[in-house]
Amino acid sequence: MANIKIDRIKKSFGSFDALKEISLDIGDGEFVSLLGPSGCGKTTLLRIIAGLETETSGEILIGGKAVNGLAPRDRGLAMVFQNYAVFPHMTVFENVAFGLRMQKADATRVKTQVEKAAALLHIEPYLDRYPNKLSGGQRQRVAVARALAVEPQVLLMDEPLSNLDALLRLEMRTELKAVLQASGTTTVYVTHDQTEAMGLSDRIAVMYNGRIEQVGPPVEIYSHPATRFVGGFIGNPPMNFIRLPVEGGAVKLGSQAQAVPQASGDIVLGLRGEDVALAPLSEGLPLDVRVSEPMGSHLLLTGTIAGQPVRVILPPGEKVRAGDRIGLRPDPSRLTWLSPDTGIALNVAAN
Ligand SMILES: Nc1ncnc2c1ncn2[C@@H]1O[C@H](COP(=O)(O)OP(=O)(O)OP(=O)(O)O)[C@@H](O)[C@H]1O
Ligand SMILES: [Mg+2]
Repeated sequence: MANIKIDRIKKSFGSFDALKEISLDIGDGEFVSLLGPSGCGKTTLLRIIAGLETETSGEILIGGKAVNGLAPRDRGLAMVFQNYAVFPHMTVFENVAFGLRMQKADATRVKTQVEKAAALLHIEPYLDRYPNKLSGGQRQRVAVARALAVEPQVLLMDEPLSNLDALLRLEMRTELKAVLQASGTTTVYVTHDQTEAMGLSDRIAVMYNGRIEQVGPPVEIYSHPATRFVGGFIGNPPMNFIRLPVEGGAVKLGSQAQAVPQASGDIVLGLRGEDVALAPLSEGLPLDVRVSEPMGSHLLLTGTIAGQPVRVILPPGEKVRAGDRIGLRPDPSRLTWLSPDTGIALNVAAN
């Protein structure tokens, strides 16, 4: 097992700066996700950790040892790619054994390790089959088993579940979490799926435009986004952003005055859709409902507050219809305040 230190990594492709200066410490046995939109640099960073791509500057340390210049196979890691490659001409057993064979492991170790990895991923019944006789999810598990069989110090995964249908994805996510918790492998996991990152990770690094916007445990990032980008990227529906005028260090939320970390001017309220309760119209923030969607587990309302678009979540039994104007009371302990100019949260540290 090993910790990973990513120290001021920059990567340029010609004049394009794909990674601007990335620093991140990942603890021994920790599961960290790199989460961000397409093109933000997730795969590039993962490939630099793996040694498949060379950094422009900066340093990577694995287990305290600088690995710059070391070949991928000498870094003590295993990788599962987005388009997981299982070899069609090899049985599942030989697929899982592949990394061990490369290491010239003896027959006893190969057998022990393959059986252990197969048991963890519940693929023992298929060891003699060829991959074309497996479902997509089973093949995905073979790819993960192959990575785990070599007992890597570090496991790197790039969107490993992206080829699966929604149900299987959910199942594999849970399975993967259980497996990696049991093995204690340090894991870096690339995804653009925020629910996946939330569910799996000890910590999430949210990336945007070649930078890390915020690093922290899922619930902390969800509740206290450091920037407007993070609040909008994480959560379904995304965080609402409502621009409000400040007077004497407070804003009016309906009939209530709420102190804010700013004396005057405008401020942006970051409000999670579920952090509101119905209130009498005379007391609450007025929401003009445009669409009301009964989702079964909750009621999703889309509309405007002070002319600004908002989506909120109420209990499933509430009777609210399109065209209604209702009062909402935001939970004062769950509010985020952001600068309208920079989009940076006032009072939230990025790390
Ligand atoms: N070999 C390359 N040459 C030039 N530009 C590249 C190269 N590899 C990546 N890039 C650019 O660097 C940026 C980051 O790419 P990267 O593959 O790391 O994104 P990503 O976050 O993994 O995105 P996705 O979610 O779509 O996989 C992109 O703008 C991409 O076009
Ligand atoms: Mg990618």
